[in-house]
Amino acid sequence: MKKKDGKVTPFEVSGEINYDKLVKEFGVRKIDENILNEIKKYTKDLHFMLRRGIFFAYRDLKWLLDKYKKKEKFFLYTGRGPSGPIHLGHLQTWIFTKWLQDKFDVELWFQFTDDEKYLFKNQSYDEIQKWTYENMLDVIALGFNPKKTHFLIDTKHAGLMYPEAIKFAKKINFSTIKAAFGLTDQANIGQIFYTSMQAVPAIIPSVLAKKNRPCLIPLAIDQDPHFRVARDVYPKLGYYKPAIIHGVFLPPLTGIKGKMSSTGEQVAIYTTDKPKEVERKIKKYAFSGGQASIEEHRKKGGNPDIDVSFQYLKMMFEENDDKLKQIETDYRSGKLLTGELKQYLIDKINKFLMSHQKNREKAKNMIDKFIYKIK
Ligand code: TRP
Repeated sequence: MKKKDGKVTPFEVSGEINYDKLVKEFGVRKIDENILNEIKKYTKDLHFMLRRGIFFAYRDLKWLLDKYKKKEKFFLYTGRGPSGPIHLGHLQTWIFTKWLQDKFDVELWFQFTDDEKYLFKNQSYDEIQKWTYENMLDVIALGFNPKKTHFLIDTKHAGLMYPEAIKFAKKINFSTIKAAFGLTDQANIGQIFYTSMQAVPAIIPSVLAKKNRPCLIPLAIDQDPHFRVARDVYPKLGYYKPAIIHGVFLPPLTGIKGKMSSTGEQVAIYTTDKPKEVERKIKKYAFSGGQASIEEHRKKGGNPDIDVSFQYLKMMFEENDDKLKQIETDYRSGKLLTGELKQYLIDKINKFLMSHQKNREKAKNMIDKFIYKIK
């Protein structure tokens, strides 16, 4: 019998995720050799997240690249709902976004949806504002170009965004939202409206330039439904539909199902974790595809496909394909032990976090450069 597939909505990701099925359900296209070659024409090399299928699906990407070829530059748009601390899963999308910004030399518009988190979470407005500030530090720390990166904070940039949001809101009805997000009649009325705010940054640069500009949205695939709902509205308002590139989820430490999350019992690694903490979490929680004893492991070998430490290396922390392949081979054969694999990952993560945490401190003096100034 077929196992029950996992759940993927903007508000819940759980269970075993069947990405091929999502591609069909969401009506997106799978990234294949053809589109990778198209991308490569402009970027020369391919980010390992593209080579390894970590970013695996898209909408309208070919169209976007054709525009780029004709010198019609796109801009990037992504965002963050600031309800808590940033963990490695969040960084995955943004590290890739930074690569896109550098390779295509384009602007990034980054939305902080403080309204969304206030409306959907049981948290105070002040708490959400605190996380907005904290989360901005993590985005800046990744090294986005301050001259080409603009932060929009929904409640702070409402004067710019609200007039556009109502145009989306007027063309999307309650039953569509209910069906797309599983909202019930008990949903608060802010939740019903929210998708129109998330749709807006994809047109803001066009509104400001008074001219249509193509947009590319890198996101983890759970965010796709917002844009699926808004998709038909863009042309009705006279704008291009945004192109999208979809990423898989970084799994939680406890196993390859679902996604890393700061809610529930699942353990996450936060950007502010100290080396000892990272070590403790990985050693204690990172689900292992190894065998119960060393003797057995040497004999039978481990399974990297379900080993969370191996998956983190593949998805984020080992850029070198040859090195990754070697680790995979050695793990499967039993030559590499779980403890050794974990230690390798711990060192990689701690090296990354040490530099991230330094940059995060420096970011405190840079926030003003990133927040978009309404002219
Ligand atoms: N809703 C997203 C979250 O909860 C934040 C977000 C806003 C976003 N705009 C986006 C994510 C565009 C991806 C792309 O985190």
